[in-house]
Amino acid sequence: MFKKIAYIFSFLLMIITKPADALNNGLALTPTMGWLHWERFLCNTDCTNDPKNCISEQLYMQMADIMASEGWKELGYDYVCIDDCWLASDRDSQKRLQADPKRFPSGIKKLADYVHSKGLKLGIYEDVGHKTCAGYPGSLGYYDIDAKTFAEWGIDLLKFDGCNFDNLDQLVKGYIDMSNALNKTGRDIVYSCEWPLYTWDGGLQPNYTAVRHYCNSWRNFADIYDSWSSIKSTIDWAADHQEIIVPAAGPGGWNDPDMLVIGNFGLSRNQAVTQMAIWAIMASPLIMSNDLRNIDGYSKSLLQNKYVIAVNQDALGAQGQRISKSNNFDIWKRELSGNSFALVFLNREEIGGPRSIAVILNDLGVDSSCKMSCVVTQILPTYEQWGRKNLTAVLQFTVNPTGSVMLRVEPFSN
Ligand SMILES: *[C@@H]1O[C@H](CO)[C@@H](O)[C@H](O)[C@H]1NC(C)=O
Ligand SMILES: *[C@@H]1O[C@H](CO)[C@@H](O)[C@H](O)[C@H]1NC(C)=O
Ligand SMILES: *[C@@H]1O[C@H](CO)[C@@H](O)[C@H](O)[C@H]1NC(C)=O
Repeated sequence: MFKKIAYIFSFLLMIITKPADALNNGLALTPTMGWLHWERFLCNTDCTNDPKNCISEQLYMQMADIMASEGWKELGYDYVCIDDCWLASDRDSQKRLQADPKRFPSGIKKLADYVHSKGLKLGIYEDVGHKTCAGYPGSLGYYDIDAKTFAEWGIDLLKFDGCNFDNLDQLVKGYIDMSNALNKTGRDIVYSCEWPLYTWDGGLQPNYTAVRHYCNSWRNFADIYDSWSSIKSTIDWAADHQEIIVPAAGPGGWNDPDMLVIGNFGLSRNQAVTQMAIWAIMASPLIMSNDLRNIDGYSKSLLQNKYVIAVNQDALGAQGQRISKSNNFDIWKRELSGNSFALVFLNREEIGGPRSIAVILNDLGVDSSCKMSCVVTQILPTYEQWGRKNLTAVLQFTVNPTGSVMLRVEPFSN
């Protein structure tokens, strides 16, 4: 009897706590994966002096070539995304957006055709306000026209920024209006928002039920930089707000902690492992911003690690969270489908060598995997099978400073 009541109660709790309705476009059932130019290439429009790195159609065609030929696409990295600074300074005579004619001589439709011919998808950027963050024409007043233009060009994802608006009501209405405008086009376009970030910046807590209802992913926190301090503050913001943001995530809509900067200049190998591990456990979109034409082997194999990607893309779509923080070790846990779990142990210490940690599985809330017996596999920093364990098992291992160890725990089956 008690068991039955407990069962009904937990079922009710499940209904109450299940994520609210996602944006009804059937997209982003797992976190979006791809590449976006911003963190690495910024607003470099100088194609005269820096033709290889300027924001031009060449850049996206080259990234698409590599994503299709060097294994990225097969692993799920399928969106090639344009950020700010692609636009001409004015709309055309019919008030439509147009790309900068010098840097995009073939136009965006041709670029989309090219990207599609590689089996990939094209993302583009606009802004909810008067101007984009870099000062190009914004979408305010033109949401329907712009959505239609994007659909006609064959765009597959819109990153919609939130600079240059008059007040928060206008911003929120703008994000909702653009969501509806995209829907009206009838085209499948992933809608990536920054509405919560600007709402928090305005001193208010965003309505995540509404955000999830209108967006496929949403930025909450500051732009990412190519540095360990930026990665740390992004991780800490997510952990410190997890009670608010984690319930909003699930198939169709995701918290977006911004781009993966692995493969650039600012992170050590251990810090790159940490970004990959925490982004996977947070069910974050995996959007790289790096130069795929020139990336070191270590970064490439980390970004292409199929075990980590499998955690990120797990079908249950439950965002993980920090379950403990002590002795400068942060422990994160994510529930996965098939009664499995992912765990990350992050060593916050920035002095000394590898530090040892010992945990008992029973203390980590992995009963549904390990009640009988489970199999533990280390998937980062290297792949190692740790074998069959039970709840009383003590796991003892070392974690490098600023690095992470990521484990996958699954029920044992013969
Ligand atoms: C538009 O919204 C309707 C109703 O929510 C939904 O059924 C439909 O799939 C959406 N279409 C697109 C293209 O997002
Ligand atoms: C949040 O948005 C939802 C859906 O749009 C709405 O039903 C709810 O009343 C809003 N909550 C608050 C506190 O405004
Ligand atoms: C768990 O594993 C240990 C060591 O292999 C073993 O001694 C112990 O009996 C097991 N406990 C249970 C409950 O199976």
